[in-house]
Amino acid sequence: MDAVTLPDLSGRTAVVTGANSGLGVETTRMLAGMGARVVMAVRDVDKGREAADTVRGETEVRRLDLADLASVRAFAQEWEGDLHLLINNAGVMAIPESRTRDGFETQFGTNHLGHFALTNLLLEHVTGRVVTVSSSLHRMAPGIDFDNVDLVGRYTPYRAYAQSKLANMLFTLELQRRLMDAGSPVLAAASHPGYAATRLQSHSSSRIQRGLLAVGNRIFAQSAAAGALPTIYAATQDVPGAAYAGPKNLGGQRGAPALAGRSEAAWDGVAAQRLWTLSERLTGVTFPLRAKPD
Ligand SMILES: NC(=O)c1ccc[n+]([C@@H]2O[C@H](COP(=O)([O-])OP(=O)(O)OC[C@H]3O[C@@H](n4cnc5c(N)ncnc54)[C@H](OP(=O)(O)O)[C@@H]3O)[C@@H](O)[C@H]2O)c1
Repeated sequence: MDAVTLPDLSGRTAVVTGANSGLGVETTRMLAGMGARVVMAVRDVDKGREAADTVRGETEVRRLDLADLASVRAFAQEWEGDLHLLINNAGVMAIPESRTRDGFETQFGTNHLGHFALTNLLLEHVTGRVVTVSSSLHRMAPGIDFDNVDLVGRYTPYRAYAQSKLANMLFTLELQRRLMDAGSPVLAAASHPGYAATRLQSHSSSRIQRGLLAVGNRIFAQSAAAGALPTIYAATQDVPGAAYAGPKNLGGQRGAPALAGRSEAAWDGVAAQRLWTLSERLTGVTFPLRAKPD
């Protein structure tokens, strides 16, 4: 990274969700390289172990299926001790319409609700930062469809993805506000990788789209390692609360990490609070810290 000093994370623990693939394994590699013990939270433990074998440093593989709130609760219940960094990285993109185990639209359920529940269930252990990986495609969502978050009757794969990634942004905004209200030193931030060559683009039901994205991955995309840098930046550099980091070149698609711009909808504090209340209701998980008395 340009002119960036990476901290020594020896003695610190990080959790990376979706750590078996793409940006997740690269984020794991970098954090482990800085000395952190990284818990690789994955839905398929065998795939997680295979990925862990490619990482130098201290790692541990644990099962977490973000599309199943019982699995999220089980992961959190087993947690003991301090957690310096929680990296909410896992995600699905532009998949055919489907439901999570709890009946939520899968992209909103996995990308947002699963991480919402995980974060709040682990928050009392977190000592450093919560970084949530969003996407520049959050800009495609004009807002959250509060009356129909599952997009019943109006589902399109990219509409649902964009909404879930806007939800990641609003979650970060409201989490930061709540942490500050509680007088917590923990910082919430978001990141996006620009366009990085991973398996993310391989799940579309359209062969044409899959083909175009495979070509795009080869020609335009940056490496998964470069795509992980904005997350490392948000996790380790001196950034403000609710910061959003992304690559600084080519309209935010490639290059060294820096603070990035976001859509107007991603700054909407009222929508952020409304999404929080809705997410608490849907998951049954609430913010665990108390507001500081005035
Ligand atoms: N690549 C890009 O250009 C790009 C651009 C913008 C944003 N992003 C964001 O970057 C993040 C990482 O994606 P990637 O590009 O690295 O894609 P990827 O290689 O497909 O990795 C996605 C990871 O998420 C995991 N995952 C999916 N559903 C899960 C669930 N229910 N529970 C637990 N883990 C689950 C996957 O596990 P399996 O291997 O078991 O499927 C995989 O480890 C995502 O949040 C994505 O939205 C990526």
